[in-house]
Amino acid sequence: MRNIDKVYVATGFGWLVLAAGFGTWLGASGHFNFAQSHAHIGLLGFVASVIFGLAHRGWPELRERTLATVQFAVYEVGTMILLAGKVMVDATGEPNLLLMTGSPIVILGVILFLWLFLASPARKNTPELVPAE
Ligand code: HEM
Repeated sequence: MRNIDKVYVATGFGWLVLAAGFGTWLGASGHFNFAQSHAHIGLLGFVASVIFGLAHRGWPELRERTLATVQFAVYEVGTMILLAGKVMVDATGEPNLLLMTGSPIVILGVILFLWLFLASPARKNTPELVPAE
């Protein structure tokens, strides 16, 4: 995906809207039992997604591989499942299937990015020299 850097950063800012809205709600309503879910939305959703996007911006060779799109889907879907599970943990105090399913998917997403990062050959940035007329 040619514009995966922008897609990742935009997704991160979408998560920020959710994290900020959730934080505002929990603070205003006194539901402090949800503070950890709020923090996870901000960190796994907003911070990590924006960092992935900036990494794609800094190393454009990464986005030339199909694995980049697969990694994006795995990480974001895993994060959605994990965060839904985390909200349920904060609500009930009990672990649940969403959390147990989402966490290995998120870990897989991170490992895929590490693989993409380490196994993509660096692009040559040497400018071409044009002979003077
Ligand atoms: C409008 C934006 C935000 C509001 C209104 C907000 C509000 C809150 C509130 C009310 C708490 C609970 C404080 C307490 O337990 O006494 C909290 C905790 C926290 N927030 Fe936010 N927050 C915002 C944005 C963010 C963002 C963007 C991040 C991360 C990137 C973040 C990370 C955290 C963390 C790490 C905690 C501590 C969680 C814990 O104690 O378990 N917050 N926030």
